[in-house]
Amino acid sequence: MAPNGDAICPMHADFDPLSPTFLADPFAVLASLPRDVPVFYAPLIGYYVVTRYADIEAIFLDHETYSAAAAQLPLVPVAQEAAQILSAGGTTAQPSMVSLDPPAHTRLRSPTARAFTPQRVARMAPRIRAILDQLLDAIDPAAPFDLVDRLTFPLPATVIFSFLGLPERDWQQLKQWCGHRASFTFGRPTPAEQMHHAENMTAYRGYLRTFVARRQSTRDDTFTSALLEIHAKEPEALTQEEIASILYSLTFAGHETTNYLIGNMLRRLLEEPARWDAVAGDPALIGGAVDETLRYDTSVPMWRRVAQRSVTLGGVELPKGAKLLLWLAASGRDAAAFPEPEIFDLRRTGMSKTLSFGKGIHYCLGAALGKLEAQLALEALTLRFPRLRLVEGQALEFHPNVSFRGPQALWVRPA
Ligand code: HEM
Repeated sequence: MAPNGDAICPMHADFDPLSPTFLADPFAVLASLPRDVPVFYAPLIGYYVVTRYADIEAIFLDHETYSAAAAQLPLVPVAQEAAQILSAGGTTAQPSMVSLDPPAHTRLRSPTARAFTPQRVARMAPRIRAILDQLLDAIDPAAPFDLVDRLTFPLPATVIFSFLGLPERDWQQLKQWCGHRASFTFGRPTPAEQMHHAENMTAYRGYLRTFVARRQSTRDDTFTSALLEIHAKEPEALTQEEIASILYSLTFAGHETTNYLIGNMLRRLLEEPARWDAVAGDPALIGGAVDETLRYDTSVPMWRRVAQRSVTLGGVELPKGAKLLLWLAASGRDAAAFPEPEIFDLRRTGMSKTLSFGKGIHYCLGAALGKLEAQLALEALTLRFPRLRLVEGQALEFHPNVSFRGPQALWVRPA
């Protein structure tokens, strides 16, 4: 007990969100933890883990106490050589809006938010449907296929890269760079791997800078050109470097999150064939399937903050500088927020309160777009393949990182 009466933080010496056991089934690990310990210290990663809905919500809503600076901090210490590569390439540990606090955050968020109003996102529906048709037309309906490879990965990548106006010939390269960034920031790379990732991240950032500079003279109707329009009118309101930083956010945030959301949704529906059949038979359930996946098996299961002062959270005392791992996926299984949380319920109500997209000043800018992509994908897939089934006996694999989770492959057979 601390002198002021607050409890000293409990500790779980072997909690490791990158261990094979955790990656295979984080919910089994969650279920094994004592329910009455909402905050605990995990020495293997040096983070305080927060599991309760109410505490995570309070953290998101108090950006002065809980800075976003840890959001993209590499999880493991950065080797000196890797840090040198990054700084020589003009990249830092807080490279984009999601890890900035106001006022720097506001400068980037305001112009970006204009592109993601609900009306603008709704106008993207015909284009998303056209991409889906193309992807589904290319599938042989008589043979098993991998949903990730054929649908869940290419759909959001195509949507976001074409929205930004990035040339199709570079998409494959961009996907690879994003993979390096995910491993560097959210995984546990060795020093040699860090150097390799850092080189790729530097190339990625450099590519975006060059892209923005080139687009300066050849504008079109893409989002990048809209940002350059702002820059042209008032160069100090939004610099070219800031535009490159916004692209660095969106190229990354706009595809793995949604790829994994759609992958998790299809997995959860197909693992109980009656669920799939229910949705295929009643499209009114599609919105519920997306929302319930965001609660039950979200694609961004953990997010981070750092305490700016010593503070009491969930009854425990946290020191200034405490790094916090907000277990968003656990907040979706919190019975105080969602009754009978272990049941996947397509008809559950009150879902707007999910914390899967964060809350407060950093609330996910792409929430409406990600949900729309997932809904349209499910609509198209259930229409084409109403009797879809999982290929039996496959072991699902997950990328070893703390923040983005979804199957790397999901094999199905058309009927
Ligand atoms: C569909 C699945 C998605 C999930 C589960 C998700 C989740 C999140 C989360 C947890 C945050 C951090 C919130 C915080 O720090 O308070 C976030 C921020 C953000 N997301 Fe998403 N996201 C998704 C899709 C997208 C898409 C499709 C885009 C872009 C097109 C996007 C763009 C962003 C941006 C730009 C931010 C930073 C906002 C800021 O710092 O102000 N996200 N998202």
